[in-house]
Amino acid sequence: MADAPAAEPAEEDVIVDPWTVSGNINYDKLIEQFGSQPLTPALIEKFERVTGRTAHTWIRRGIFFSHRDLDAILDNHAAGKPMYLYTGRGPSSESLHLGHLIPFHFTKYLQDVFRCPLVIQMTDDEKFLWKDLQLDECHRLAAENAKDIIACGFDITRTFIFSDLDYIGSMYPNIVRIQKAVTYNQVRGIFGFDDSCNIGKHAFPAVQAAPSFPSSFPHIFGTRVDIPCLIPCAIDQDPYFRMTRDVAPRLGFLKPALLHSKFFPALQGATSKMSASDESSAIFCTDSQKQIRDKVNRYAYSGGRETVEEHREKGGDLATDISYQWLRFFLHDDAELARIGDEYSSGRMLSGEIKAELVKCLVPLVAQHQQARALVTDDVVKTFMTPRPLVGASAES
Ligand code: TRP
Repeated sequence: MADAPAAEPAEEDVIVDPWTVSGNINYDKLIEQFGSQPLTPALIEKFERVTGRTAHTWIRRGIFFSHRDLDAILDNHAAGKPMYLYTGRGPSSESLHLGHLIPFHFTKYLQDVFRCPLVIQMTDDEKFLWKDLQLDECHRLAAENAKDIIACGFDITRTFIFSDLDYIGSMYPNIVRIQKAVTYNQVRGIFGFDDSCNIGKHAFPAVQAAPSFPSSFPHIFGTRVDIPCLIPCAIDQDPYFRMTRDVAPRLGFLKPALLHSKFFPALQGATSKMSASDESSAIFCTDSQKQIRDKVNRYAYSGGRETVEEHREKGGDLATDISYQWLRFFLHDDAELARIGDEYSSGRMLSGEIKAELVKCLVPLVAQHQQARALVTDDVVKTFMTPRPLVGASAES
């Protein structure tokens, strides 16, 4: 068996929305339910043909698995026309974990492929409205988290990172346009808000929608409304962009395109939640080599068998083994992943040994992140977060 995607057992009580991801997720069902499109081999081939680049490991391994209008983005790119990327983060914790880095590493790859501007929204307002946090704290975390994001290697000449609290004014014309086009009933239907939700929550979806439109960034795109936007994100963010795509034509704007990822599993297994507030559920970007080794050895859910004899006979279960599943994310060498998969599923490799393979993979990754982050000065953050023209934007119409 060359590659085993994560186990997707029968789903009961599956919830996938921006605040809750629980249950055993069947991703094919989710595509049907959300009305998105599967990322097919034919489209991946077109991506490679048009961009002249090998599809990212996470595309080839089905981790980015669903999309909306990616084909239109590729046609636009093939025609030599400008586009931009948009992604974001809700800054609710001091330090990011490896799961948080995935959309940013992927977005960095897309920026290299398309050589286009990128806007990154830090939703400090969202975290204030939803969490028990002080407003100042959310704002501080936005700049703090921006350092981890910048450490992923974004091109400073093509990337604008903004805190909603600071930048809201420039987006406000589009925010009110969006708000006027969505009724109270609709926002409640899409997001499940009830009578006890504060009114800030009801209004917020328009804030996350606004960066999908180039005119929210006049310093980058001038008044152009014809520059398409591609949003890489985890599939739980899709409700925001279903709403955005619904209102776009009524506002005379283009619908944003999307590329959706599956979720990164917690150390304890695919059905438990990885949480920034639970130290043991994740590897953090600040963890030391020793912490990484200890956490993997102690907590990584094992698909190995009860006894060595049984394991040698039956082999490990790749679909539930977290070390293997994490290697599918972070070990980019296909041949090496296949070798480990074969060794482990045949029983030649033991649980402790596949954990050692994972540690060997994660330690340099985290060390490299820490080195890159140490180089991100306050001045660098300030530059990324200053509204300014970006390279590759074709603001001139
Ligand atoms: N709501 C997202 C979160 O809590 C942050 C976010 C804002 C985002 N805009 C986005 C994520 C666009 C992906 C794409 O993390």
